[in-house]
Amino acid sequence: MNDQAERLRSMVAQSRQEETPAKNTRVITITSGKGGVGKSNFTLNYALGLAQQGKRVVILDADVGFGNIDVLMGVTPKKTLADLIRKEATLKDILETGPSDIKFIAGGSGFQDLLDIKPEQYEYLLEQLGELQGYADYVLIDTGAGLNAQTLQLILASDDVYVVLTPEPTAITDAYALIKMVVTREPGTRLQLVINRAQSVPEGKETAEKIRLVAERFLGVEVPTLCVLLDDPNVTKSVRRQVPFLLAYPNGLASMCIGNVVSAQIKGEVARDLSTKGMKQFLHRMVRLFQ
Ligand SMILES: Nc1ncnc2c1ncn2[C@@H]1O[C@H](COP(=O)(O)OP(=O)(O)OP(=O)(O)O)[C@@H](O)[C@H]1O
Ligand SMILES: [Mg+2]
Repeated sequence: MNDQAERLRSMVAQSRQEETPAKNTRVITITSGKGGVGKSNFTLNYALGLAQQGKRVVILDADVGFGNIDVLMGVTPKKTLADLIRKEATLKDILETGPSDIKFIAGGSGFQDLLDIKPEQYEYLLEQLGELQGYADYVLIDTGAGLNAQTLQLILASDDVYVVLTPEPTAITDAYALIKMVVTREPGTRLQLVINRAQSVPEGKETAEKIRLVAERFLGVEVPTLCVLLDDPNVTKSVRRQVPFLLAYPNGLASMCIGNVVSAQIKGEVARDLSTKGMKQFLHRMVRLFQ
């Protein structure tokens, strides 16, 4: 290990000691094996649903090159996380405000840069992004499809991971392949399924059950289902209108599904008191290649 890595390690150790989390920010990564299964639409509307229940939510778009949460909500980010990592922007510069006061950060190449960060950049990043710790109840990270080094690191660093899939056989096998790679690396990863575009609730549950059984039998892990979202033509219409479906079609099928999962989530968390590690721990774990 070189001097730079040594300095970074001692900074991580020092800021760990200083850390007194203001509140428990839950960091959730939303991912999928197959692309185009509805991750970005789910992330955005789930964020809005949580915001409508009084939660403060920040979305980080980690889909390098193809990020489109901004397009879905009709907001144009001027700066990205990459500018912050280069120390050319502050948190305020990169934080966009969307509908229902949700906040949004475009990742740009920032999450890739995180894997190769220099100590002085890391210090600045901790100082800036660390402020989210006192602000956000939830940080939702929307990723691109598939499992590259950056997405794997995000998954391993998060409190929770939602794997989105549709009932199509290819989406099911790709989701299973992703789950297998993740739990092989880190068996304790907290994974939950989001079944999207189901034609009916029983079809969605059947899809979830297929994955649950093979994951239990061949990988020895429990993969519970967070929710089933029904296929709803309003989703495509809302994408065309650049207005999230929860706002454009609040009484539509997809919006009802989001409403259900948000209230279950809020109630469930109180009951189960799931642990969260917060924003700073997330950042530490994200750069742990150096540690
Ligand atoms: N519940 C739904 N009902 C009907 N159509 C849907 C639903 N969810 C998503 N779609 C359709 O799927 C398209 C892709 O959704 P989205 O962009 O959210 O997927 P993604 O997983 O983020 O894709 P990528 O892997 O490219 O990032 C949407 O534009 C919409 O047309
Ligand atoms: Mg997407």
